[in-house]
Amino acid sequence: MTRMSFFGSLSSSFGTVHVSIASIREIIGTSEPPSSPSAFATAAEAELPSLTTHSSALLTSQEQEVMMALGARIVRDEVTMHLRGDPTLAGPLLRLAFHDAATREADGDINGLFTGGPNGSIQYELEWSENRGLSRPLQVVQQMYGKVESYISLADTIALAGAAAVEGAGGPKISVKLGRVDAAGADPRKRRRTLQMDTDRSLVDTTLPSAALDSDGLRLYFGALGLTEEEFVALCGAHDLGRHVTLLNMPKSCLKDLTRDCLEKAPVLMPFVSEEPDRISNTYFRKLLKWYDRKVELGEVAFIPTDVAMVVDAGLRKYVQKFAKSESAFESAFASAYQKLVDSNTITQERY
Ligand code: HEM
Repeated sequence: MTRMSFFGSLSSSFGTVHVSIASIREIIGTSEPPSSPSAFATAAEAELPSLTTHSSALLTSQEQEVMMALGARIVRDEVTMHLRGDPTLAGPLLRLAFHDAATREADGDINGLFTGGPNGSIQYELEWSENRGLSRPLQVVQQMYGKVESYISLADTIALAGAAAVEGAGGPKISVKLGRVDAAGADPRKRRRTLQMDTDRSLVDTTLPSAALDSDGLRLYFGALGLTEEEFVALCGAHDLGRHVTLLNMPKSCLKDLTRDCLEKAPVLMPFVSEEPDRISNTYFRKLLKWYDRKVELGEVAFIPTDVAMVVDAGLRKYVQKFAKSESAFESAFASAYQKLVDSNTITQERY
């Protein structure tokens, strides 16, 4: 069964589907991941033989719900297993979800309509310089998608994998809506409508954020995505996790011609926050305050301009202080900001 037939044929006719909802729920509801997610998928699929073989199927909403819950469960288990083998994958998976979703722009001509957003278009946008380094997590997600494509879209898989990566890295459990439809090509990279306040560095003219944005630029950029100041400060706490490229030990040929390939294969990556770069917590905010007080030691942090813009601006600093003080305030603001970021273009009311 193709994804289009799953979501697109609800009103068409078909033969009988025998789904043992109770038994699938039982499988989905087990709290422990199975020893192998594919064993789990096989066990669950055995309960859904007709759904996976019909080319056109009329599914009840209950059956749809069960299938999506099944897909979500498989993806979350897959991420858990991958992170067990390679914890450094958490940052790239989260960044992949951010870059797939953040290209959303309101259609100036039609009220309430948007282009872009969480739609799997990242698979066509890997050459953008902002998406450098994202082919590794995309490959991992595409592998997972191969196991769940009868139930959910690639865009759903990306949003779920980002959420599961946060949880796997010690952050909050974030459930997300499902039913995103995959795009057939890249989203626009340039915004149709540029945004700017008084400063040069507040100019927002691309659908992914520039690392040079100042605090007004951040307000404009994230405001256009529907996020409040508190929400976007929390979301940027994602930089507690993961690393960025440096020129350290770069081969001399690369120093002459710093190609994308050189950057993708950079021998030394620097954590944003050196303490536990594969775990997410409110440490990022505590380090931002320490940086502001000029007390960080060399090598302790490697912030980019947008990170420090949040602590330099008094209006945003109050949220940095709030999250530095309270891990739980950070976790709940991060979770709801992530949901706001990725839960557009969805069809379910329920979150998985
Ligand atoms: C203010 C806007 C933001 C800018 C300008 C920005 C820019 C960047 C840059 C330049 C890197 C390093 C890329 C590299 O060298 O390979 C990076 C890494 C990262 N970003 Fe952001 N980012 C922003 C917001 C976010 C948000 C909102 C999230 C998630 C919700 C996020 C998640 C990440 C993660 C997890 C990494 C580390 C990836 C890894 O370990 O490979 N970023 N970001």
